[in-house]
Amino acid sequence: MILIIYAHPYPQHSHANRRMLEQISALPDVEVRSLYQLYPDFNINIAAEQAAVSRASLVVWQHPMQWYSIPPLLKLWIDKVLSHGWAYGHGGNALHGKSLLWAVTTGGSEHHFDIGDYPGFEVLAQPLQATAVYCGMTWLPPFAMHCTFVCDDETLSAHARRYKQCLMNWLEEEQHGQS
Ligand SMILES: Cc1cc2nc3c(=O)[nH]c(=O)nc-3n(C[C@H](O)[C@H](O)[C@H](O)COP(=O)(O)O)c2cc1C
Repeated sequence: MILIIYAHPYPQHSHANRRMLEQISALPDVEVRSLYQLYPDFNINIAAEQAAVSRASLVVWQHPMQWYSIPPLLKLWIDKVLSHGWAYGHGGNALHGKSLLWAVTTGGSEHHFDIGDYPGFEVLAQPLQATAVYCGMTWLPPFAMHCTFVCDDETLSAHARRYKQCLMNWLEEEQHGQS
């Protein structure tokens, strides 16, 4: 099962992420949890989130980039759900063997992150990658959709199809590995 932890503060205003979700909606065994719709008061149901993660083989953190980082509710989700004794520490092996995909959309281009004083796009992934690896997960190559500020509808849809293909490739590899 693929679990999409979707953190868009204004999902009704989304262009890029909404198309990505539309593309993957027909895939089998995909569960989408839209955090800002589930928890508008930021009161995360930890047991429900941990149960959803337990059912998944692939966890996806999907969100628009905000100030070179993740939206605050996703940060809170990580802080609360990846708890001691469950995700890490003594007896904390609930995530071992699962995979993690970071799926991010950005207004700027990839090069926007590379120049001058900017930290570089890959660097931005490091805290997420470290978190995943610390919890025993396999970190997959991130999926990024850049330039959403200037992309026309057709280009956004093409990128969204690329997202679907990325998940389909993972499903295929997973099934191949099991047979
Ligand atoms: C508060 C805020 C901060 C943002 N910070 C960044 C940023 O640091 N880098 C960037 O490339 N885009 C930034 N953006 C642009 C969003 O990432 C972009 O609008 C989003 O990925 C588009 O996806 P959507 O159509 O699903 O909303 C920011 C947007 C907002 C609202």
